[in-house]
Amino acid sequence: MLKIAVPTGRMGEAAVEVFERAGFDCSGFNGTRKLIRQIGSMQIIRVKPSDVAVYVEHGVADVGIVGKDILMETEPDVFELRDLGFGACRMAVAAPEGFRDQGDMILKVATKYPHVATKYFGAKNRPTEIIPLNGSIEIAPLVGLSHVIVDIVETGTTLRENGLVIVEVIAESSARFIANQASYQFKRDEIEKLLSAWRLR
Ligand code: PRP
Repeated sequence: MLKIAVPTGRMGEAAVEVFERAGFDCSGFNGTRKLIRQIGSMQIIRVKPSDVAVYVEHGVADVGIVGKDILMETEPDVFELRDLGFGACRMAVAAPEGFRDQGDMILKVATKYPHVATKYFGAKNRPTEIIPLNGSIEIAPLVGLSHVIVDIVETGTTLRENGLVIVEVIAESSARFIANQASYQFKRDEIEKLLSAWRLR
């Protein structure tokens, strides 16, 4: 039996649609708080997007669906098998409109992605103070907690509604299909069959 970690939230809803398009009956799946479900011979566990790779890396899920942004942040020891194409967004540095980085002060960066931000500004030799937050990052520069943010931008609505603009794009992100390394050896046929059902090969 294949165990699949599927994220809750926006990306999870898109993932469930992919299962449905492939002919799996997921009726009521998105409207429930039941966290372990069976689809055919597969067991689906619904976990927080940032936890998907943890379950897969530890082998309690064989495969999972996770955003590239999270893989960049946590660098889990898993196989990244496919770009699933949905959940597209950009990882970007954003700032209040009109902000200019003069380069003469320590740049304060608020983010849910401290590892990505540290790596990005480190590569540019830009001295920064990274301020890790868990959500609503766009508030930070508005209230003076940071100069800029590093966050994902999907539709751009949150930036726009808060008077922020993209300064630099760090990377493109989308949903990725990942596998536990041992599972990919021992359950390769099942995993490939699932990918075929999704017509992704
Ligand atoms: C994410 C992200 C941005 C927003 C971008 O937040 O951190 O805030 O979505 O999407 P948009 O470009 O379509 O507006 P999320 O919805 O995960 O909530 P959070 O702020 O609580 O992290």
